[in-house]
Amino acid sequence: MKKVITYGTFDLLHYGHIRLLERARALGDYLIVGLSSDEFNEKEKHKVTFQSYEERKKLLEAIRYVDEIIPEESWEQKKEDVHKYDIDVFVIGDDWKGHFDFLEKEGVEVVYLERTPEISTTLIKENLHGNK
Ligand code: CTP
Repeated sequence: MKKVITYGTFDLLHYGHIRLLERARALGDYLIVGLSSDEFNEKEKHKVTFQSYEERKKLLEAIRYVDEIIPEESWEQKKEDVHKYDIDVFVIGDDWKGHFDFLEKEGVEVVYLERTPEISTTLIKENLHGNK
């Protein structure tokens, strides 16, 4: 079985997220999502999410492309996770291009997928505020 992993915050789940998950799952047979914890978002990614970890997890669990969800709690864990979960392919959007090439040394294929244009959590938040 070919196992794929991706990481992200996935706040206010949108079309760009779904397309990323669909293409990630198509690269293998089993997709794991490393979902950024609330603490990791705040302390390391400097993001305050609208939805809590449990809410974001609940939405992802309802997506047919997602087989398993694990918490992302540090930048370093990727190197351990790929062995722990026996990962073949690491996937992420091309806003991260080059950042995770080091995982190739762990024997993992690293794929950067093209982001879907004109949609992001940030944009949704800005639009909502603008329409108040
Ligand atoms: N993603 C994508 N296309 C988009 C938005 C996100 O392919 N339009 C991908 C990202 O590249 C990443 C994953 O979805 O691999 C999770 O992205 P995340 O940072 O949670 O979502 P964004 O909408 O980019 O959030 P923000 O605006 O807070 O950066």
